[in-house]
Amino acid sequence: MSGDISLKAIGVVRTANKTREETPVQPSRAVGIEGTVEVFPEYEKGLDGLERFSHVFLICCFDRAGPAELTVTPHGRTERRGVFATRAPDRPNPIGLSLVRLLRREGTVLHVSDVDILDGTPLLDVKPYVAELDSRND
Ligand SMILES: C[S@@+](CC[C@H](N)C(=O)[O-])C[C@H]1O[C@@H](n2cnc3c(N)ncnc32)[C@H](O)[C@@H]1O
Repeated sequence: MSGDISLKAIGVVRTANKTREETPVQPSRAVGIEGTVEVFPEYEKGLDGLERFSHVFLICCFDRAGPAELTVTPHGRTERRGVFATRAPDRPNPIGLSLVRLLRREGTVLHVSDVDILDGTPLLDVKPYVAELDSRND
């Protein structure tokens, strides 16, 4: 498969993060920073059972990303690396993956914490964090 792939937003992320500069660089640096995920009503049934999980992955479209470069200097580092060896937001497909804490669900609204995402960011998908599948001890 090659060429353009079309995706649609299933919701929007709401946070107090208004600029890239003021937004934490990862959820681990955003502990306690809360936000909401407003899933569009037509997807409500798809959220059934999500409240059983303590954490969820938010997969977002970084709509304010800059032009992608194939090498970047990661935050806090001095040497350039290939963009695919980093979590830089400016990438050929500006997709973000954030593991956030799920505080509670109210209908189509997810209350979350540890959010490194700008206000108004389109949400592409939500997936539960499952420790047995997603953590590695080695
Ligand atoms: C280093 S990225 C990491 C994001 C995610 N945890 C990941 O690993 O894919 C986090 C930074 O992305 C930027 N960012 C967040 N939301 C964005 C958006 N909608 N458009 C462009 N940049 C965004 C902010 O500057 C934030 O500090």
